[in-house]
Amino acid sequence: MTSAAIWKKSVDDDNLVCLSLDMPNSQTNILTQAVIDALSVELDQLPSPPPRGVIIRSEKQNGFIAGADINTFAEQYDIEETFSTIKQVQAIFNRLAALPCPTVALIHGFCLGGGLELALACQYRIADNAPTTRIGLPEVKLGIHPGYGGSVRLIDLIGVIPAMTMMLSGRILSAHAAKKLSVIDASVPTRQLFNTARRFLLDPPPRQTPPLHQRLLSRRLLRPAVGYLLRRKTAQKVLQKHYPAPFALIECWQKRPADRQAYFAAEASSVATLIQTAQAQNLVRLFLLQDRLKVFGKQSDFKARHVHVIGAGTMGGDIAAWCALRGLNVTLQDQSAERIAPALIRAHTLFQRHLKTPYLIQAAMDRLMPDLMGTGLSKADVVIEAIFEDLAAKQALFATIEPQLQPHALLASNTSSIPLDKIAEHLQQPERLVGLHFFNPVAKMQLIEIVQATTTDAQWSQHAAAFARQIGRLPLPVKSAPGFLINRLLMPYLLEAVLMVEEGLPATVIDQVAVDFGMPIGPIALADQVGLDICLSVAQVLGPSLGFSVPTSLEQAISDGHLGRKSGQGFYHYTQKGNKKEVSDHDTTQDVDKNLIQQRLILRLLNECISCLADHIVEDSDLLDAGMVFATGFAPFHGGPMRYLQQEGAASLYEQLTQLQSTFGNRFSPHSKWETWL
Ligand code: NAI
Repeated sequence: MTSAAIWKKSVDDDNLVCLSLDMPNSQTNILTQAVIDALSVELDQLPSPPPRGVIIRSEKQNGFIAGADINTFAEQYDIEETFSTIKQVQAIFNRLAALPCPTVALIHGFCLGGGLELALACQYRIADNAPTTRIGLPEVKLGIHPGYGGSVRLIDLIGVIPAMTMMLSGRILSAHAAKKLSVIDASVPTRQLFNTARRFLLDPPPRQTPPLHQRLLSRRLLRPAVGYLLRRKTAQKVLQKHYPAPFALIECWQKRPADRQAYFAAEASSVATLIQTAQAQNLVRLFLLQDRLKVFGKQSDFKARHVHVIGAGTMGGDIAAWCALRGLNVTLQDQSAERIAPALIRAHTLFQRHLKTPYLIQAAMDRLMPDLMGTGLSKADVVIEAIFEDLAAKQALFATIEPQLQPHALLASNTSSIPLDKIAEHLQQPERLVGLHFFNPVAKMQLIEIVQATTTDAQWSQHAAAFARQIGRLPLPVKSAPGFLINRLLMPYLLEAVLMVEEGLPATVIDQVAVDFGMPIGPIALADQVGLDICLSVAQVLGPSLGFSVPTSLEQAISDGHLGRKSGQGFYHYTQKGNKKEVSDHDTTQDVDKNLIQQRLILRLLNECISCLADHIVEDSDLLDAGMVFATGFAPFHGGPMRYLQQEGAASLYEQLTQLQSTFGNRFSPHSKWETWL
């Protein structure tokens, strides 16, 4: 393919050259090797004497450049080879940066990772101020950091603290925020983009430089102190052994050689080393697995405009708010106005956090309508039930709502554990009922299990998956067996933690062990967050089929009215204001074997993973891993439980499991299918 087929070139009367990237056979521009090679050719072919200016832009509707070609990250095993590939890209970007005429990157939509690094190699950046513009360097989320000269250029452009804050968090900016940070030079309406670029090229303004205090912070003398502070702040969020990339980025800057070319080389070398780490490879694999999940939503063109949610509790309220945030009209039904009110307050907080602008917040609030009488039912395209986890109550509700639905409306339950076939028993059209199992907290957890009962028609499951995509979530089809996939995996892990509390181990220590392993939250705090009543009912459904008994302390907590965070008391106490967790009254001074705690938690989970795969609850181990990471936040750098099992060594984990079995009994008895993983 010729470079002209990738980069469309035009020259206007003022001798301004415009290079427009239009990757053939792709909706989105990404920095593949072919795109980079073609850019090199185009730079070679620029006339001499040089043009008056060069504009780099994208022909694609959805954005400038979405990033580097992540598929290639998963194949890089040789540090030297990776280093030289990165250096080649750097050399091309350096040639762009060194052009003897002004250059402008014209940005709209996605301008991420390598895309922003290319834009940073231009002298100016002008972005569309539309809400779809998204600018950032999210590489740390893949276990690496910018490598095409981007970290060097961003620090030189805006100063070490703002640049590091942006890169260490992988934060994505709007055009407005990017302008405020001086990452871009102008943020203008779409119609003015081109003229602004022309103005910059024909009469170039002075180039941005960081303020004096930022320049001082980069001085050799101050760098160790700044580096120390950056490392300390980063360590408050992530552990270096789990996520080495942010720490490597700081170190690279702190040891910055005086020669800029040597700094570029150090950046490339750091990325080439990071990319080989198990953490980066696991994160890249998970990133790519998202595409596999997204495919499930592509088999249907179902589009909802109106969602009706029944039950405004922890889940229903947050599902309704999320749908309204994503632009849908939502009616929210419950038994009384008092039960809906807290959901509206939470929704307002969510909208404030995401939308920021008052009129957008108000518009989202207007889309979310309390509906005590259930008038929205007959108009909705999707109806989601999220009432108490009680089979009889759910069956009674579905019997009354089914006759009121539009023929095309998707009928869904958010049940955590009740087999869908049972809920569908009295329906006139049982083939229509699908499980849309959201996870708590709804706004954070990216996955929705698409639960298919034996009666569910495949077409309705596909509509459900398309709906999940419409609201920006990842659909995972699972079989309707007790606990589906995620709760079935979580429950043995949670119950083992509860048993340890019953044995007298401090809840805080158990939670800390799980967090040290890489979980976002410990199992005891998670049980409180989900609700102990929900945990109990899932455990009761799962217990008989999986052969475990429910810990007595869980039943006792419910009969004492301790339902977890929502009632102010669970394993922990919660204050009314801000739901702050207080330290429980356990003795934290006793000696505990943290390694044993981790083994007990993780091995019960892994054993259940093998059991779920054997029962075909989910298609394969890749999807199981993606499910656990995107539904529960399971340590992403471990790549999911099955990846962890393979990387740790199935044989040694099996050995540990049999030892636990001899100490603690048959709940640790290895599933017969372990042998297939040995
Ligand atoms: P919740 O107890 O916080 O809320 C349930 C709400 O349903 C209450 O506000 C109640 O007034 C309302 N309700 C009960 N019967 C109703 C009826 N006939 N009509 C209208 N409203 C009615 O419960 P939560 O935690 O929100 O759970 C709801 C469902 O979501 C359950 O099936 C649960 O298993 C499932 N789920 C819960 C998760 C969690 O983390 N809590 C996670 C995923 C699913």
